[in-house]
Amino acid sequence: YSLQPFNTFNIEAKAKYFFEFTEIADLTVFLQSNESWKEEKILVVGEGSNILFLEDFEGLVIHPNIPGVYAINEDRQNIWMEVGAGEIWDEFVKYCVDAQLGGIENLSLIPGTVGAAPVQNIGAYGQEVSEVIEKVKGYDLEKNEAVEFSNQECRFSYRNSIFKQELKNRFVITSVVFKLDKFPEFRLDYSNLEAKVSEKGVISLENIKKAVDEIRSSKLPDVKELGSAGSFFKNPLVEMDKAEEIEKEFGEIPVYRAGDGKVKIAAGWLVEKAGWKGFRDGDVGVHEKQALVLVNYGKATGKQIYELSEKIKQSVLDKFGVELEREVNCI
Ligand code: EPU
Repeated sequence: YSLQPFNTFNIEAKAKYFFEFTEIADLTVFLQSNESWKEEKILVVGEGSNILFLEDFEGLVIHPNIPGVYAINEDRQNIWMEVGAGEIWDEFVKYCVDAQLGGIENLSLIPGTVGAAPVQNIGAYGQEVSEVIEKVKGYDLEKNEAVEFSNQECRFSYRNSIFKQELKNRFVITSVVFKLDKFPEFRLDYSNLEAKVSEKGVISLENIKKAVDEIRSSKLPDVKELGSAGSFFKNPLVEMDKAEEIEKEFGEIPVYRAGDGKVKIAAGWLVEKAGWKGFRDGDVGVHEKQALVLVNYGKATGKQIYELSEKIKQSVLDKFGVELEREVNCI
């Protein structure tokens, strides 16, 4: 079964088995009707916007395609929406902005599904999805039962959650409950976002979304045109001293405060300064406008992209003494 439509890197890879479902009952019936899946390796894939296939997947790929966007509760300040795992993330962002509901407008234009959003706790321009998640609902393949996780139980942190750790490949997210704000406080502190929004006129959800869309389109490739999975590496957390040491030698580096005497430094800056921005070898490359994004110009294999990422990691380590960690799931 071809996985090419299910990974935004557009890598040609196959799965031994593939199961897509639109209702939770279909998943439970499938699992109960066929015990042999227990022997198989399992991989849950939404749109595959954070995955790199290094080879064919010798197991069962589960693709949750549950639709639905429902308001389930409301008070004076908030609306709680339950959204099916198969909904496209960016369409949900548009829906909320149009409905004047705040909380995810800065997360506009991120590829992927709603079910995938909590897994790596998507974040951009000063917002993280964990700030508006009330609950994550899904099916535990080991316990063979439906389970719900409160926000705390999801153990969210920067690009991380329990679904990427202990529950990796054993939990299928079926829906997410969001708590959105009818009278939102806008989040404009990220870099030049406020200025960009002001250019559009009043500060509103629509204009924030427009500004974010513009910034993103000017830096990040459209995955429909150029295969990629967004940032390939995480922004590394380093001791303040280490960041100062780098600055002394190489000039000012973009940092984000992280508490505990540590700072997050921009991996894109490190990769660029190590000379990789715009690099291309055959069909693999480093995006010319954002060095954190590796791209497939056509027929690159997952292994080729992985090898390039190894070289980049090594050269950043040699030059700055900083170890980059992959953000993309390599399978
Ligand atoms: N930078 C460079 N060279 C580059 C890229 C970046 O010097 O090639 C410097 C820029 O000067 C800038 C700083 O790095 O000052 C930050 O760059 P940017 O605003 O593009 O954000 P980022 O830290 O590289 C992170 C997320 C993105 C998210 C943006 C905006 C991670 C791993 N990436 O990137 O998320 O869109 O911030 O909030 O945290 C993703 O996860 O796939 C993703 C795209």
